[in-house]
Amino acid sequence: MTQVGIESIGLYVPRYYVDLEDLARARGEDPRKYVAGLGQERMGVPPPDEDVVTMGANAAGEALRGVDRSRIDTLMFATESGVDQSKAAAIYVHHLLDLPAHCKSFEIKQACCGSTAALQMATAFVAQRPDRKVLIIASDVARYGLVTAGEPTQGAGAMALVVSAQPRIVALDPEWGSYTEDVMDFWRPNYLDEALVDGKYSIKVYLKALTESWKQYAAESGRTFADQDRYCYHLPFTRMAEKAHRHLAKINGVDHPPAEQIEASLRYNRQIGNSYTASLYIGLASLLETSETDLTGQRVGLFSYGSGCMAAFFSGLVLPGYAQGVQRGRAEDMLHNRQRLTIDEYEAFYLHELPEDGSRYVTETHRTGRYRLAGLDAHKRLYESCAPNRQADAPVHAVAAT
Ligand code: COA
Repeated sequence: MTQVGIESIGLYVPRYYVDLEDLARARGEDPRKYVAGLGQERMGVPPPDEDVVTMGANAAGEALRGVDRSRIDTLMFATESGVDQSKAAAIYVHHLLDLPAHCKSFEIKQACCGSTAALQMATAFVAQRPDRKVLIIASDVARYGLVTAGEPTQGAGAMALVVSAQPRIVALDPEWGSYTEDVMDFWRPNYLDEALVDGKYSIKVYLKALTESWKQYAAESGRTFADQDRYCYHLPFTRMAEKAHRHLAKINGVDHPPAEQIEASLRYNRQIGNSYTASLYIGLASLLETSETDLTGQRVGLFSYGSGCMAAFFSGLVLPGYAQGVQRGRAEDMLHNRQRLTIDEYEAFYLHELPEDGSRYVTETHRTGRYRLAGLDAHKRLYESCAPNRQADAPVHAVAAT
């Protein structure tokens, strides 16, 4: 059987953050609730000239370093905070990254699990066509609204994976456990900018979906809880992974699972917050890039949960040489070099609205990555590519979206 897996990964987070102790004080909450209770220290906040397209393009630019672009056959863009009901965010990225015209590009949606649906489809496709590669982008901005229970569990970020028959980082196992049930734990009608959520209920459904998808995975693979050395979970907030891991251990008869099984996977999320489709894979990057021990040959169990709901449990083996495939230290630099926002500045970014009347609009320039939203004209989004390492200087050239 062809070995299929992750050849490269790229991560992008906005250049601004809110310190959750500042947010707790502004909201009259005990900071320990956010930091210890939810496990969040900071949350990423995109400025008005960033969206899922620019974050996704930045992550994909990283993932494509050293990859033969002519072999990228398909670009799947998973998001639940897309910018258009019809045109896929993938098409804008295809343009910005100058991908081959034969590369199919489309968007996938099922809440936070869309990226995992893309990964499962990509592995099947690559197994059939081992000469081709698939680029998956997961990019999201988590919004629950100002002064809501969900506010401290917001965040933003993007992850890109190149899936191929030449994996350098993780080889995926062929067994997948899945679970689908029609529930209303989290959803966002077309007319709302913020998600509606029954938070406590969503935690219950998450754990039920974990049980059910694990059962199918275990039955199909014959593997036990002990056969996974590390675990990565979907991370709506960091402490959710602790709850999930304790739950999975318990249903497998293990009372005290070692904390190190999940610890390294939580480090980035604690600083970024929820990034919906990207969060599980940011957790995987965190594990691979920050673990103090050599993970070569270790099996990682991964649980993806998308409210609504669909979930999947799957696994992969960390490959020899993986440490050269991941960019150790780069994400930590990115997280370290962000600018702290005051709560007033965060609220101004949050409440910023683009015009909806088709008028020409030039977006104010903030700190972004290589790509930014330059503005709007006649209801068309205008993206631009900027000089590398630009902070807040002038754009180099504009790319008009069609
Ligand atoms: N010091 C330390 N911990 C504290 C604390 C304090 N002063 N005050 C509260 N906590 C703890 C609580 O005990 C709780 O931990 P526990 O779950 O282990 O008991 C945690 O902090 C959260 O407190 P809680 O009262 O449950 O928070 P909340 O009612 O504001 O809601 C969520 C929390 C996660 C439900 C809410 O943020 C939300 O809806 N988020 C979005 C949806 C989501 O993330 N869903 C997850 C599945 S996808």
